[in-house]
Amino acid sequence: MSFQRELKPSIYSVGAVDWDRRLFDELIPLPDGTSYNAYLVKGSEKTALIDTVDPTMTEVLVRNLEEQELGTGELGTGGINYVVANHAEQDHSGSLPQVLDIYPNAKVVCTPKCKDLLTDLLLIPGDKFITVADGETLSLGDKTLEFIHAPWVHWPETMLTYLREDRVLFTCDFLGSHLATSDLFVPDEATATATVYEAAKRYYAEIMMPFRTTIRKNLQKINALAIEIIAPSHGPAYNNPNFILNAYRDWASDEVKNEVVIPFISMHGSTKKMVNYFTEALIERGVTVKQFNLSEPDIGKLAMALVDAATVVIGSPTVLVGPHPKVVYAACLANALRPKLRFASVVGSYGWGGRMVEQVTGLLPNLKVELLEPVVVKGVPGEEAFNALDRLAEEIVSKHKEILKGE
Ligand code: FEO
Repeated sequence: MSFQRELKPSIYSVGAVDWDRRLFDELIPLPDGTSYNAYLVKGSEKTALIDTVDPTMTEVLVRNLEEQELGTGELGTGGINYVVANHAEQDHSGSLPQVLDIYPNAKVVCTPKCKDLLTDLLLIPGDKFITVADGETLSLGDKTLEFIHAPWVHWPETMLTYLREDRVLFTCDFLGSHLATSDLFVPDEATATATVYEAAKRYYAEIMMPFRTTIRKNLQKINALAIEIIAPSHGPAYNNPNFILNAYRDWASDEVKNEVVIPFISMHGSTKKMVNYFTEALIERGVTVKQFNLSEPDIGKLAMALVDAATVVIGSPTVLVGPHPKVVYAACLANALRPKLRFASVVGSYGWGGRMVEQVTGLLPNLKVELLEPVVVKGVPGEEAFNALDRLAEEIVSKHKEILKGE
């Protein structure tokens, strides 16, 4: 079944909704599925397809294009003149070879870096490309595409495409959300707040957060554009662009919240006792706590919690002299995501010794955090351990007050 809708006159959404996908990169949970949005822009003289879809859904894209009755472009039968590749990752570029087979006169329009990547990843011949500089434009007749280089959202070759006359910004991954929905646009404020905000934040946390500084530069870069619609290549389009732009400004800013994230695991209950005591100690002192048991975690939720928090406190028992492997996994992930955390600490227990704390903190070189005195006990926690946890909670409260006052 094909599925296409008009975004604005002569601009169609022709991509695919993937209701069933539950994992991206064999790593990132997709509880709400996703979509691979592609857009067809018909100018008075030329037609451009903006992005394609994941190779698993090429058939849907091809059917949607067939229904547009474009012809193949041969012997004056119309067709697609340009395929704009905003990003080389295969969930947007994977159908390019088939699209170029069907529309042999189409040229791929992308940044020079994207050309290199598409050549390596999809073996697209060099003569198929038109590379564009930052700010360059391409006329479709009565519509003009402007290309805005936006590196590192989240690969080095990425760009955005701005359709001047219609004030539509096609952003590919940037500002998108992993959300399978039948809504072409975010339908209303209630859905925006309840559903799309969380899906977009999850997407930002998992994909964009490591590039926070360049995200801010790219947000600045599009500040001057008059934008009516933001059309990403995952999730619904935004006809209230400020909703997602303001959310990104907040997430990518340096401001942190009075929040502590506690990812932990416990084998025989000692670490859990400590974590529970510590959680209450923080709550009593007015701190928001987000606790994550790592035995069956949704790492997307953990990533989301790390977007705003000022502090992470990792809880681990000692396994074979080091941290539990599931703690290692979470620590590696937090390190890779580079959240704007300011403080970190470790709590946990051991049976006969080990180097759990050094090994956990050694996994976090990317985090620009001040390490606060860890609390690690032999066996089950007693009064001394609980007093030490109270002291750690006090220290966190005072550190948070200091930084939150200064902001
Ligand atoms: Fe949706 Fe970076 O691909």
